[in-house]
Amino acid sequence: MFTRSLSFLSQELVAKFSAQAIMNSVKLNSGYELPLLGLGTWQTKPEQTKVAVKTALKIGYRHIDTAPNYNNEKEIGEAINEWINDGGKREELFVTTKLPTYGNRPDDVCKYVNKSLANLKLDYIDLYLMHMPFSLCPDEKEMNPALGGDGRVILDKTNHIDIWKQMEAQVNRGVVKSLGVSNFNVIQLEKLFYGSVIHPSVIQVELHAYLQQPEMRYLAETLNIKVVAYSPLGSPAAKKHFAEKYGLQAEVADLLNDPVVVEIAKCKNKTPAQILLMFLLQQCIAVIPKSANPERIKENADVFDCYLNEEDMKKTHFLKQRTKGSYNKLPFLERCGRSS
Ligand code: A2P
Repeated sequence: MFTRSLSFLSQELVAKFSAQAIMNSVKLNSGYELPLLGLGTWQTKPEQTKVAVKTALKIGYRHIDTAPNYNNEKEIGEAINEWINDGGKREELFVTTKLPTYGNRPDDVCKYVNKSLANLKLDYIDLYLMHMPFSLCPDEKEMNPALGGDGRVILDKTNHIDIWKQMEAQVNRGVVKSLGVSNFNVIQLEKLFYGSVIHPSVIQVELHAYLQQPEMRYLAETLNIKVVAYSPLGSPAAKKHFAEKYGLQAEVADLLNDPVVVEIAKCKNKTPAQILLMFLLQQCIAVIPKSANPERIKENADVFDCYLNEEDMKKTHFLKQRTKGSYNKLPFLERCGRSS
């Protein structure tokens, strides 16, 4: 079982801050390069997606993150296709998509990989993640979770290792390059690692200055698994999203207005969003900020000239809320043991 004291980890990380070089990509244990900056597309509406992805590709983003339940894989495929027709090279791109909760069964893996390949108009996926550690029953169209008589999703049995074996089969089939998981906790990730033949290359989790995930990061470093931070800005629109989509009240911390972050941003002539991204990038954590707004897509990439010194890093690292600010404290995740 993985155990490590949190305070020891903090000191170790602080010591590394100033020495850490900023790299554009990191090598995965699969041998492939993961670009550290990517475009997140959770909550990007289908009609906004093409412009967002084309803007990002034009600026120089080479990592695009999606999932079937974001309902925008097709539009991402169209944008990529047009970019390639205009001279872009497929091999320079890194596309991540995920096995949906309603396909989280060994027998369904191949089917959902094929669906994503068709939607994205690609003949391989760079990174395929198990999206959640739990499984839900699919609806008739196999495009959403089914709802029971009480209007709630229906949990199915989940066996991570059996699902993973079928994910490994997709690598052996040549249609997926690297594998990983999302939203797993440290116990689930460690267990999966030791039960795998092809090890997970990536753990994608909610990670930002208010939820720094020290235990997960230590485990990932120990197992040579790279960390991708979703919601690196703290997902300011999540409250509205969860309320509208699920009728749930999520508590969303306001990172972009944190006084410490705002003060550092002022000193550096940068925006709070750029400081929050640099804080993670300087620790070699890959980030996938979501934006459907071309100006903000540009802003989020205009960070590599802004190096945070040791003092800035420490101030951000030791924010009062540094480990507790998850907006993802949703009952269905907690019931499944996701929260650590
Ligand atoms: P928009 O798509 O209108 O730009 P996260 O990646 O942490 O989940 O945050 C995504 C949210 O933050 C979206 O609502 C997005 O809105 C907004 N956002 C993205 N980039 C910025 C930025 N540079 N400044 C302020 N808000 C941003």
